[in-house]
Amino acid sequence: MGSSDRSDVPSMQASRYEQLVQAVVDYAIYMLDPQGHVVSWNAGAQRIKGWRAEEVIGKHFSLFFTEQDRIDGRPATLLERALSTGVAQDEGWRVRKDGTRFWALAALDVIRSPEGEILGLAKITRDITDRREAALQLDAMRAQLFQSQKLEALGQLTGGMAHDFNNLLTIIIASAKLALKSNDQQRNQRLLEHILDAGERGTQMTQQLLSFARHRALKQGRVQVLQLIESIHLLLAHALPKDVELQVQLEEGLQDVAVDGGQLQMVLLNLILNARDAMESEGVIRLLGCNCQLAGEVDDLHGAYVRLDVSDDGRGIAPHVLPRIFEPFFTTKAFGKGTGLGLSQVYGFTKQSNGAVSVASVPGEGTCVSLYLPAFREDITTAN
Ligand SMILES: Nc1ncnc2c1ncn2[C@@H]1O[C@H](COP(=O)(O)OP(=O)(O)OP(=O)(O)O)[C@@H](O)[C@H]1O
Ligand SMILES: [Mg+2]
Repeated sequence: MGSSDRSDVPSMQASRYEQLVQAVVDYAIYMLDPQGHVVSWNAGAQRIKGWRAEEVIGKHFSLFFTEQDRIDGRPATLLERALSTGVAQDEGWRVRKDGTRFWALAALDVIRSPEGEILGLAKITRDITDRREAALQLDAMRAQLFQSQKLEALGQLTGGMAHDFNNLLTIIIASAKLALKSNDQQRNQRLLEHILDAGERGTQMTQQLLSFARHRALKQGRVQVLQLIESIHLLLAHALPKDVELQVQLEEGLQDVAVDGGQLQMVLLNLILNARDAMESEGVIRLLGCNCQLAGEVDDLHGAYVRLDVSDDGRGIAPHVLPRIFEPFFTTKAFGKGTGLGLSQVYGFTKQSNGAVSVASVPGEGTCVSLYLPAFREDITTAN
């Protein structure tokens, strides 16, 4: 009795597995003999492929492939791969009984006896047509979005940059024409100054563009922050309205920074002019400098840094605008007024200098832009 009990156990288990496999309707689960003929067929296979068990058992599994795949020998290749390596996976079109197609994800596993003899192959197939279509749709949407963002950037480029360049060229051409006709020494001097101003502004715009596109290498050196700020003061003499005050406060013993001095000057100018534009006609712009030791809290930077804060008590930045301010050509300024390249230059500069930039702003109260620049160290030779 005992021995007949034991011999029943495997067959009971087998029938339970049979029930389990039969109950699965989302996967086609069936067996093939080593030559590729269908040996068993579950409910899922019938649901997905449309054939009933009695119609397919004994048939070769190439029946489920497209004609082209059959011509290309795909079923045979799959079978060979499974038999030689133990497993084969495949994704592609399969054909239902009614001739319609579905996109299948299939796995073919070799089944061996305990002695190692090949008994057959287990084939599991899923219909992932929906998933594939969703993925394709998502890809198409992404491509479309990318295209429209590119177009938007291009539109802003042509709308903003071309407009600004045109303004500058208008100034240059008009001034040159006037100067050609005039004999007034003093007037000609003024006209030449206008031409020079416009030319310099144009150069500045292309420099910002190039440095953002990283085509211009930065010349890293040792920069004394106080000296640099003094030189900016001179440049700013005519750019700030008389009721806008610039207060500079640098920590005693502020370290020198390892950056491109000319670019840092442009960066600070950009930030100060942004602050000026954020105020009606009066207010205070603060430039604070302090030493700081970072341990990964900002952009995962570590070591000795100098932090420069440019803050204003202007109108602030709306939360929906904030994520976009570093985008090249993004501006909220009137048509032709801003290029939208200022902050993208700031961003490009800090990244290339192995530093970071962060912005905090409260609408109606003001904005603070913080630059983190690597402190200069004697022992590290800087790239030229
Ligand atoms: N200090 C600030 N206060 C309020 N908004 C600011 C401030 N700085 C920047 N912004 C916002 O970020 C946008 C992008 O600034 P960015 O300097 O890149 O370009 P821009 O100032 O518009 O143009 P440009 O620098 O060529 O004059 C601005 O249009 C403005 O909306
Ligand atoms: Mg700006």
